Amino acid sequence: MSNADIYHEMIIDYSRNPINFGKIENPDVTYHDSNPLCGDSIDIDMNISDDKVTEIKFHGKGCAICMACSSVLTEIAKGKNISEVKNIGKADVLGELGLENLQAVRIKCALLSLKVLKFALYSHLGKHLKTDDLDKLKEDASSLY
Ligand code: FES
Repeated sequence: MSNADIYHEMIIDYSRNPINFGKIENPDVTYHDSNPLCGDSIDIDMNISDDKVTEIKFHGKGCAICMACSSVLTEIAKGKNISEVKNIGKADVLGELGLENLQAVRIKCALLSLKVLKFALYSHLGKHLKTDDLDKLKEDASSLY
């Protein structure tokens, strides 16, 4: 079995049995966004305690790539502190599933949840950050694709 086959199976698996799929009751942070091209949408809920993401779940609907990337992303973010989550980039998500050379048209599928996570963090930290940090975080989230 080639690496491409293994990654393909992982994506199908994650899309059928997504990890961290669901809602958090009364989350500290929640954010929603959608892909305007297909209408698929993702919500991310998080609980944050002592500067750490203690719980994270996502829900919504998306294609196999979107669901797989949301699963992988939430696994990466779980248990991390805020500055580590701020630094999660597209390569971290795409690399986990062998999607580094994804066609431009599918990039939005792969990175929708990362965009939601960045904006969730932005909305959570908005009141406590210095202007420079806020601008950087906003720029990160907006320039994903
Ligand atoms: Fe909608 Fe991929 S087709 S997120």
